Amino acid sequence: MKISSYSLSLLLCFSVSIYAVSGLSSDGTTLLSLMTHWTSIPPSMKSSWNASDSTPCSWVGVQCDSNHHRSHFVVSLNLSGFQILGRLVPEIAELTQLKSIDFSNNGFTGSIPSQLGNCSLIEYLELSQNSFTGDIPESFGNLLNLRFINLYSNFMKGSIPESLFRIPHLDTVWLDVNELNGSIPLNVGNMSEISSLWLYGNQLSGTIPFSIGNCTKLVELYLNDNRFVGDLPESLNNLEELMYLDVSNNSLEGTIQLGLGNFKQMDTLVLSFNYFSSGIPPGLGNCSSLTQLAAVRCRLTGPIPPSLGQLTQLTLLYLCENRLSGRIPPELGNLKSLNDLQLYDNQLEGEIPIELGLLSELQNLFLFTNHLDGEIPISIWKIQSLENFYVYDNNLSGELPPEIAELKHLKNISLFDNHFSGVIPQSLGMNCNLTLVDFTNNSFVGEIPPNLCFNKQLRELMLGVNRLEGSIPSDVGTCSTLTRLILKQNSLTGVVPEFLKNPNLLFMDLSNNRLTGPIPSSLVNLTNVTYIGLAMNRLTGLICGS
Ligand SMILES: *[C@@H]1O[C@H](CO)[C@@H](O)[C@H](O)[C@H]1NC(C)=O
Ligand SMILES: *[C@@H]1O[C@H](CO)[C@@H](O)[C@H](O)[C@H]1NC(C)=O
Ligand SMILES: *[C@@H]1O[C@H](CO)[C@@H](O)[C@H](O)[C@H]1NC(C)=O
Ligand SMILES: *[C@@H]1O[C@H](CO)[C@@H](O)[C@H](O)[C@H]1NC(C)=O
Ligand SMILES: *[C@@H]1O[C@H](CO)[C@@H](O)[C@H](O)[C@H]1NC(C)=O
Ligand SMILES: *[C@@H]1O[C@H](CO)[C@@H](O)[C@H](O)[C@H]1NC(C)=O
Ligand SMILES: *[C@@H]1O[C@H](CO)[C@@H](O)[C@H](O)[C@H]1NC(C)=O
Ligand SMILES: *[C@@H]1O[C@H](CO)[C@@H](O)[C@H](O)[C@H]1NC(C)=O
Ligand SMILES: *[C@@H]1O[C@H](CO)[C@@H](O)[C@H](O)[C@H]1NC(C)=O
Ligand SMILES: *[C@@H]1O[C@H](CO)[C@@H](O)[C@H](O)[C@H]1NC(C)=O
Ligand SMILES: *[C@@H]1O[C@H](CO)[C@@H](O)[C@H](O)[C@H]1NC(C)=O
Ligand SMILES: *[C@@H]1O[C@H](CO)[C@@H](O)[C@H](O)[C@H]1NC(C)=O
Repeated sequence: MKISSYSLSLLLCFSVSIYAVSGLSSDGTTLLSLMTHWTSIPPSMKSSWNASDSTPCSWVGVQCDSNHHRSHFVVSLNLSGFQILGRLVPEIAELTQLKSIDFSNNGFTGSIPSQLGNCSLIEYLELSQNSFTGDIPESFGNLLNLRFINLYSNFMKGSIPESLFRIPHLDTVWLDVNELNGSIPLNVGNMSEISSLWLYGNQLSGTIPFSIGNCTKLVELYLNDNRFVGDLPESLNNLEELMYLDVSNNSLEGTIQLGLGNFKQMDTLVLSFNYFSSGIPPGLGNCSSLTQLAAVRCRLTGPIPPSLGQLTQLTLLYLCENRLSGRIPPELGNLKSLNDLQLYDNQLEGEIPIELGLLSELQNLFLFTNHLDGEIPISIWKIQSLENFYVYDNNLSGELPPEIAELKHLKNISLFDNHFSGVIPQSLGMNCNLTLVDFTNNSFVGEIPPNLCFNKQLRELMLGVNRLEGSIPSDVGTCSTLTRLILKQNSLTGVVPEFLKNPNLLFMDLSNNRLTGPIPSSLVNLTNVTYIGLAMNRLTGLICGS
């Protein structure tokens, strides 16, 4: 025993000295040969990858096996972001000890050599953000040690090989943003260790396999922006570790059977842009970690379940562009972290619940195009964080209280096509940076507040089709940011302002009022304006200019 081990190490020494004499190790030679197919490499590589060296172990981007000093096998290649242009040739398979490849973010073109499937020690394969084309090699199924594969953002075609999903210890599979087609292999459930599966942005079709319910360690599942059809498999409810599920922008249909299980980790659920024909499952109210829930334009019907009020971590709730009916549940007032509530374009009815005023972090409240009626509860006007308030195209009525002027962050307020009445509070605009005010087609009376452009942010002022009186405030004429001004169909009197300092004005309609006096000659300086409506007033003079 002792003797034979001694002679073995003698043999090794001998072979090393042969390498020293004859130059570069075989892995080094292979690397230089790979490099001959790269038309552009960085200077750091040019000077470092030197044929006079005996091993490639000190070369930039190259790592050798530190456990077997004498063998000089390359175990890791990291050429990420080297701006390499060229092809990857089959000879790479001669680097038999490779465990990790990171060629991401270069200009590799052509297909990925199937011979890479011979490098059976590979654990980490990162080829994202290149221009690889062709199929994912079937031979990747031989990479039994693979844990991580990233082909994100290439031009890969064809279908996902079933062999890939048979690899036992896969943890991360990112094939997103390619041109893959066909179905998800039925054996997707074989990946019992997978925690992150990103397939979004391909042309994948067919149904989502039921067996996906066997991937019980899944944390991230992105299937969005494909062409999947059929139901969401009920087996998804088995995925108790799931935090991110996005199936948006497919052609999914049927009943949404989610929330039956125990989605305690779920953070983000996106169902938008599909063809479901069901209600929102009340069980979603048990996904107690949800911070974002979006189900935009996916043919949802029925009421908004009050159980959603249990989602107290929610910051974003988008249920817009569906056929939801019934009242807005007052329980939504429990969502104290909510920043963004968008329920627009549904068939919601009844009053806006007073409880929504408890949403003290709310920035966006979009309830437009529904059948809401009654007055806006005073509590809403006390949401200090509110920036964008859109309730147009409803059946709302009542007056705007003075409290509205205390909304310090208010930027956009759109109330058009409702039945609001009373005067517009004088101090609106004094405390905030109003950008858009659209009160068109209501029953407002009294004068236009004098300071709407107080903070010089106002871009669009639309108060047409009301019963406003008095003159146009000089603030409007000197508002340099204003692009759109519509005051038509009121009872405004006085003269047309000079508009000397608002060269950005593109559209102005003052028609159908009781304005008098001359048409100001300064209007000729509004060189970018596309429309000026002054008809149906009592103005004199002409606009001259080009
Ligand atoms: C390669 O190494 C040899 C010997 O160390 C040196 O003379 C030569 O300049 C190097 N070549 C490059 C391109 O750096
Ligand atoms: C490769 O190098 C880049 C930095 O140049 C690093 O961000 C990346 O994590 C490395 N890849 C691997 C697999 O270690
Ligand atoms: C390498 O892979 C190719 C294609 O996958 C195969 O035909 C060949 O036999 C493999 N070579 C070795 C040495 O395993
Ligand atoms: C996938 O695309 C290839 C062309 O890349 C085509 O030949 C094949 O028929 C397509 N398969 C499916 C299922 O659409
Ligand atoms: C792998 O998937 C196939 C097809 O779904 C299935 O028949 C088989 O039982 C699975 N194997 C394991 C180990 O999960
Ligand atoms: C999970 O895999 C087992 C076999 O390994 C199979 O019997 C079962 O039906 C699978 N479950 C799902 C949800 O695919
Ligand atoms: C839907 O997905 C396709 C790719 O499959 C993409 O081109 C399109 O922009 C997506 N649409 C939306 C609204 O995101
Ligand atoms: C939430 O989970 C509990 C316990 O599993 C269950 O009793 C209840 O019905 C669920 N709530 C909804 C709205 O599904
Ligand atoms: C709007 O509300 C009024 C009562 O305030 C009611 O008469 C009318 O029918 C409602 N219109 C619509 C379209 O709901
Ligand atoms: C108004 O805008 C100014 C400048 O853009 C900004 O500094 C200020 O914080 C804004 N005020 C509010 C209340 O948002
Ligand atoms: C008209 O628009 C152009 C381009 O948007 C801008 O550069 C120019 O300053 C504008 N003219 C006036 C008078 O504001
Ligand atoms: C148009 O603007 C120019 C330059 O600012 C100014 O001199 C001129 O008086 C203005 N014309 C009218 C009619 O206001």
